[in-house]
Amino acid sequence: MAIDVLWNSDVAQLPLRVLHAIYSYNLPRTQSRATWLWTFLRQRVPMIYPINLANPDVDFASALENVKFIMLLASTTGSGEVPNGSSIFIKWAKSDDGKRILNRKRFAVCAFGSRAYPKFCAGGKRFADVLQKVGAEEMYPVVCVDQLGNEDTMFRKYTTHLFDWMRKNDLMTESLRDLMVENLENGAAIQPAFYLRVRPRDSYGMVAPPSRIGTVAVLTNRTDLGVDSRSGSFQVTLQLQNSVSTIEYYKPGDHVAIWPRTNKALAQYFTAHFGLNFDDQIDIVPLNDAHLHKSCIDASIPNPVTVEYLFTNVLDINTEPSGELLSALAHYVEEPECKADLEELALDEDQRRDWIERTGMKTFMLFDYFPTLSCIHRREPEEGCDILRDVLLKIPKLRPRYYSISSSPAAAGNSTFDLTVGRVMYTSKGGSRLHLGFCSDFLATLPLQSNVIAELRPAPSFRLPKDSKLPVIMIAAGTGIAPFKGFVDHFLFSSGDLSRDAWLIYGCQNRDRELYASEMENAVDRRVLSKYLVCYSRDPDVMPKTYVDQRVRENADAIKDMILRGGHVYVCGDIRIEQSVNGALADILGDDFEDFEKSPRYHLDIFGAFDIQRQLDQRLTSARKSLSMRKSFRHVGT
Ligand SMILES: Cc1cc2nc3c(=O)[nH]c(=O)nc-3n(C[C@H](O)[C@H](O)[C@H](O)COP(=O)(O)OP(=O)(O)OC[C@H]3O[C@@H](n4cnc5c(N)ncnc54)[C@H](O)[C@@H]3O)c2cc1C
Ligand SMILES: Cc1cc2nc3c(=O)[nH]c(=O)nc-3n(C[C@H](O)[C@H](O)[C@H](O)COP(=O)(O)O)c2cc1C
Repeated sequence: MAIDVLWNSDVAQLPLRVLHAIYSYNLPRTQSRATWLWTFLRQRVPMIYPINLANPDVDFASALENVKFIMLLASTTGSGEVPNGSSIFIKWAKSDDGKRILNRKRFAVCAFGSRAYPKFCAGGKRFADVLQKVGAEEMYPVVCVDQLGNEDTMFRKYTTHLFDWMRKNDLMTESLRDLMVENLENGAAIQPAFYLRVRPRDSYGMVAPPSRIGTVAVLTNRTDLGVDSRSGSFQVTLQLQNSVSTIEYYKPGDHVAIWPRTNKALAQYFTAHFGLNFDDQIDIVPLNDAHLHKSCIDASIPNPVTVEYLFTNVLDINTEPSGELLSALAHYVEEPECKADLEELALDEDQRRDWIERTGMKTFMLFDYFPTLSCIHRREPEEGCDILRDVLLKIPKLRPRYYSISSSPAAAGNSTFDLTVGRVMYTSKGGSRLHLGFCSDFLATLPLQSNVIAELRPAPSFRLPKDSKLPVIMIAAGTGIAPFKGFVDHFLFSSGDLSRDAWLIYGCQNRDRELYASEMENAVDRRVLSKYLVCYSRDPDVMPKTYVDQRVRENADAIKDMILRGGHVYVCGDIRIEQSVNGALADILGDDFEDFEKSPRYHLDIFGAFDIQRQLDQRLTSARKSLSMRKSFRHVGT
């Protein structure tokens, strides 16, 4: 605290607030960066506050009235869209109230995105654009942080710009500016504003379980899709618990967020290294500075919490370790070589990425890789508690994964829904390690009748047209067929209009991977689908390779006619399908495509860019390698 006082005296009285937009489909990256940033700043600079732009309960007018500088951290989702829920801020900013309050306010945006997407960092840029249009002053250009590389570097750049700006405006002394930049570059730790205490057990040795959050659904069925399980895709059926049969909980096209859990045995093995028992209950006890504490501890971590709950339901030990985590752990290693390795990996982003790529490193593997880290050799649970305290906020939280609903309440029932899940499975560079997608593996292996925490998320922009006569053109690739299975079920089981044109154009690798083929053929026989066009991209027996855009072009006249008759086009799959379908529709519609693309008759449901991200990532890694002489890196452990 003495340090705070010293630093505070170096900072002019500045009402500075951090404003962050964190709630997007992807969720954790921007949130953890924003939390780190404002905690780091707040421990050094007074008067800095976080605001979640996606929180409908925030009163933006009073939160921003007296603010001098707005730091806005925003990711991008969908196809260049602002994070889910944060359009309420944009609406407010454009209102008279918003314009009055934001006029002449200073701001700077840090945009998180990925170069795998054509509209790189478009979400953050959109916020900057809106703020400028309502009269706010941009202090330095949007800093774009690319998930595929340069994350740490660009984030430090953004923060350094802030210190430079404060120095230039006499809000900070030169020496404090230098100290802050040095702190940033050395990866100076933030001080947790709490300590952890293992709760004594009652006379029966029992501890109370923490309360659960979220809606509980039961996994009632799982079926392999495609010709056999080689397709890697499967369908699961979930039944909401405690539901009311008369309430329709979803509509075809909606999404579900699924919270995966870490395997118990794996979490138990990991936590044993802290010298803690799996069923120990931990109190998070604030330090004296309650003001700081309140906002430093994450509200999603129950207090008290059992070690089991913390490591199976809250913290994500299945992800790659961050620089901040490695830096915090380095502190507890005595063996000099291991300590130096950890520190080097913490600070050198390129080296860390390369190491992660080479070893397939995940947080749960750290104790095996750096054996001298483990407390179990020393048998000192207090030290385990200290390490846990330091790493608690540096391990990201488990994030939900989204799935499109593949059923219709008309067919499955109001509270029962199906999901179509593609099992993510890939090998690391060199093929030495098999990686399993965390949530898809969770759903693929969870015993039937187990509980799953789920949240139904309406997707109002991906709904069937109200007028059941309007043509519907569905275009999908791979597991992108998921929502269309729900649409087709809806056509089959609701008293729909059989005269409607309903086309499904579907692309997959080969016949074995054609999902729901018999269901779609049946729908054609029953005349609820007027056309089912399939194309294979990797079938040796079917040449040449065809993709969905080609089928669209081949049927240009019919598709144009349906669109001109008020038809709706739905596209679902990864980011590549959007680009290829856009190209084909632009060829068909000519100049009219621009208007159609913006119209409410063009619906997109984009899953992400996983394979592309990986390919670009690998290309970047090899480019970096050929540019720089690799430092030889020693490692201990296996
Ligand atoms: C709105 C929306 C709707 C969605 N709907 C569906 C749906 O209906 N069905 C469905 O299956 N998915 C859907 N998804 C995707 C889904 O949410 C998950 O992202 C997906 O299941 C993977 O999650 P996971 O936890 O299994 O993988 P993770 O553990 O999160 O791993 C994914 C990561 O693995 C890496 N990776 C993936 N593939 C490869 C590869 N081939 N080579 C190298 N690296 C790779 C990438 O880094 C990627 O980021 C949807 C996503 C969104 C945003
Ligand atoms: C469904 C989806 C769509 C995305 N769309 C874009 C995009 O259009 N442009 C971009 O730059 N990044 C895009 N991204 C990448 C994210 O913005 C990036 O991963 C960011 O680091 C996520 O931060 P978050 O976890 O806080 O959401 C997308 C990611 C997903 C999963």
